[in-house]
Amino acid sequence: VADAFGTALMDWVRGGTIPETIQRDDGYMEEGAGPAAYVAPFDEWPPAERRALRYIRGRVADVGCGAGRVSVVLQERGFEVVGFDASPLAVRAAGIFGLRDTRCATAVGFHRDIGDFDTVILFGNNFGIFGTPERARVLLTRWAAHAAPGTRVLAESTSAYGGGAPITDRGYYQQNKELGLAPGHTRLRIRYQDATGPWINWLFVSRAELRGIVRGTGWRLVRIVGDQLSEPYVAILAREPLP
Ligand SMILES: C[S@@+](CC[C@H](N)C(=O)[O-])C[C@H]1O[C@@H](n2cnc3c(N)ncnc32)[C@H](O)[C@@H]1O
Repeated sequence: VADAFGTALMDWVRGGTIPETIQRDDGYMEEGAGPAAYVAPFDEWPPAERRALRYIRGRVADVGCGAGRVSVVLQERGFEVVGFDASPLAVRAAGIFGLRDTRCATAVGFHRDIGDFDTVILFGNNFGIFGTPERARVLLTRWAAHAAPGTRVLAESTSAYGGGAPITDRGYYQQNKELGLAPGHTRLRIRYQDATGPWINWLFVSRAELRGIVRGTGWRLVRIVGDQLSEPYVAILAREPLP
């Protein structure tokens, strides 16, 4: 098993143009978003991401930062920002892309760091990092326990129902429902040139599903930015005041 996505990021920050391939557990394959998304300049970001930037304040953690396209823009705007990514190659790519402060670390251990930050960013559909609704609830609850009141999470996802979420379609989400899984719970792996990554769970949630997952985890849903069903949206969560 290789770090296929990290390998791709290393190529893309050096000008590579070949996109990754996403393979679903039922064999279906789709071309990924490639450099057009992962090293996109600000003007080419999804509208909801651009609009959500006004909710950022203080010290920022970009969790699953990839090539650092978001962090580098925030850095240029004067924010103190640290990029976290589980992939050593992603962290290296982000450094090449211009991000000064990076850490190779996973979302699972992020509760140890969250106390140092005012805003946590999960862009590029990174709410999906949580994998399943159950894990999302466990990790969000753990993050909340270590976050200062008022800490914000800007979490992006795309509804599995609107035709805009990568690698999901009607047949797949209906099959998921029959299996008792969340409709947008995808099992996939990334392929890039000769490299094949590990199988991972990636969760796409509708606005209503996100609302249900977040309830009772210690995070309050402040608002949702982005109203096109087929486009990514950003949920603004705030750490509730401690009782
Ligand atoms: C879809 S990409 C998004 C990259 C970036 N946020 C963007 O919008 O351009 C997901 C990134 O999250 C990283 N990642 C996946 N699972 C992770 C985890 N559990 N903890 C930290 N990073 C993770 C991957 O290595 C990858 O770089």
